[in-house]
Amino acid sequence: MKKPHKFDADFSSVLLSDERAKQGTSESIIKFSKITKRDVAVDFGCGPGFLTIPLAKKCRFVYAIDINQRMLETIALRSKKEGAPNIKPVKSTEYSVRLPESADFLFALSLVHEVVRKRKMFEVFHKLLKIKGSLIVADWRTDAKEWEFGPALHERISKTKMVELAAGLFKPKREKLMENQYYLLFEKV
Ligand SMILES: C[S@@+](CC[C@H](N)C(=O)[O-])C[C@H]1O[C@@H](n2cnc3c(N)ncnc32)[C@H](O)[C@@H]1O
Repeated sequence: MKKPHKFDADFSSVLLSDERAKQGTSESIIKFSKITKRDVAVDFGCGPGFLTIPLAKKCRFVYAIDINQRMLETIALRSKKEGAPNIKPVKSTEYSVRLPESADFLFALSLVHEVVRKRKMFEVFHKLLKIKGSLIVADWRTDAKEWEFGPALHERISKTKMVELAAGLFKPKREKLMENQYYLLFEKV
């Protein structure tokens, strides 16, 4: 099987573009999650911080995890520039990362489709969250209206398949359909 494509850091500005924001804004994901100022969050596969920076302004602390060091360097710069000091960039390997505390919320935005062992990734999410913690997965619809943005169809994961991948580890609680993406909120069991 061909490995799914990983987002190239050379094109990271695309992830912060106005065009991208039309697919689903960081504000809509944050609102969907119902995170509060008391909560600690993980932004898993954070990229250049499309979600990380606005999220940090709405919660206590954010661990910004990525496998790509250049993405983390961008986060560190943007965190200073945008006045969001409550962010710690953390480098992961493909299925492993350590944090000093468990999180209340974990966001995986446009990440799961880039990973080969998707169930293993849900096990990693499970380890990082507190019991009853919330996992928010936002990924690309297989029945999208337009295809200019986002991964190729064969790399996309349907909403139903995403729920199956989480079964036994997470209970689905809420969902929201955007034009080209879906948001799912799970509770850790
Ligand atoms: C399509 S980008 C999305 C970035 C960000 N979540 C956003 O929505 O703007 C996917 C990101 O996941 C990272 N990534 C891919 N596989 C990963 C893994 N196994 N662990 C951590 N990060 C990973 C990539 O380096 C890339 O920055």
